[in-house]
Amino acid sequence: MTRGAKTLKSGNLRLLTLEMARVTEAAALAAARWMGKGDKWQADDAATKAMRAVLGEIGIDGTVVIGEGELDEAPMLYIGERVGSGDGPEVDVAVDPLEGTNLLATGAPGAITVLAVAPRGALLHAPDMYMEKIAVGPKARGRIALERPVRENILAVAEAVGKRVQDVVVVLLDRPRNRYILDEIRALGARAKLIQDGDVSPAIAACFEETGIDLMMGIGGAPEGVVTAVAMKSLGGDFQGRLVPQNDEETARLKTMGIDDARRVLTLDDLVQSDDAIFSATGVTDGLILSGVRFVGGGAAHTVTLVARARTQTVRFIHGRHHLPSKPDHVREWVAEVEEA
Ligand code: FBP
Repeated sequence: MTRGAKTLKSGNLRLLTLEMARVTEAAALAAARWMGKGDKWQADDAATKAMRAVLGEIGIDGTVVIGEGELDEAPMLYIGERVGSGDGPEVDVAVDPLEGTNLLATGAPGAITVLAVAPRGALLHAPDMYMEKIAVGPKARGRIALERPVRENILAVAEAVGKRVQDVVVVLLDRPRNRYILDEIRALGARAKLIQDGDVSPAIAACFEETGIDLMMGIGGAPEGVVTAVAMKSLGGDFQGRLVPQNDEETARLKTMGIDDARRVLTLDDLVQSDDAIFSATGVTDGLILSGVRFVGGGAAHTVTLVARARTQTVRFIHGRHHLPSKPDHVREWVAEVEEA
């Protein structure tokens, strides 16, 4: 019998909240074994296997819509893969088993594991291409517009959050393609925080004023854009995205998906077409909001997970203490792999 499955009503995914946390916790425990080992592929593989193992226990009839890639490039959690016990609500599943693989491989801050679910058909099936993004916290909700110049967005956010523009902090990926944003931030006198990888974490951070982060901007991955949108909808923030096809092939791919105008700005409601969505992320390395996994000896490990639900915007931080030898075999296989090797 799959826990929760019989009591879950379609149109109310609330009972999945703790189950989702269990999934991202398992992926984080598995990935954290590889911290600083310089092997991002093994780390991603471990996280993916652990995530898939725990997802398989959950009472959902899920289809991966944002995943590790197409079937021919990813053996697990590929786009279109059916996940869950099959006995439960039909849902779209978006996974990023290890967001920030390079961060984890070098022990840098900000690596997380991510899972989002929403009723079937509710999530944009974004292809693996780039997306121009802007994300802000609740105070600046409704105040951003991707079509507007960068400076206008920063000024609008400064006003919304009640800060001088000199105090505003914008996080962006340190890439040549984002240079125009950095130039505008500096010309305005605002502050920039350049990151090497992982643009989901800073968008989440923008929803918590104690982090000092006000916006995440710039061009990053489109799949990460969709999971960020679920996070922002669940945390009461705001997000807009615009796909950035790099060549004719990518443009043609969008057409086959029914997206004729690739340059259309996608709002939160375009990206997540339901408020019955849930987002879960567990810290792998230390970040602004989530502490990373701590192995504390005696076979125990601590995790910190954020789970939030779009309908109510209830945000929970779950501190887990795990006794790894007691995990079920199919989970222990992945979360304890390095230790036992
Ligand atoms: P990983 O897939 O290695 O975890 O990288 C994630 C990421 O840094 C995203 O957070 C970001 O949106 C995207 O990659 C940026 O892509 P690129 O490295 O090609 O600039």
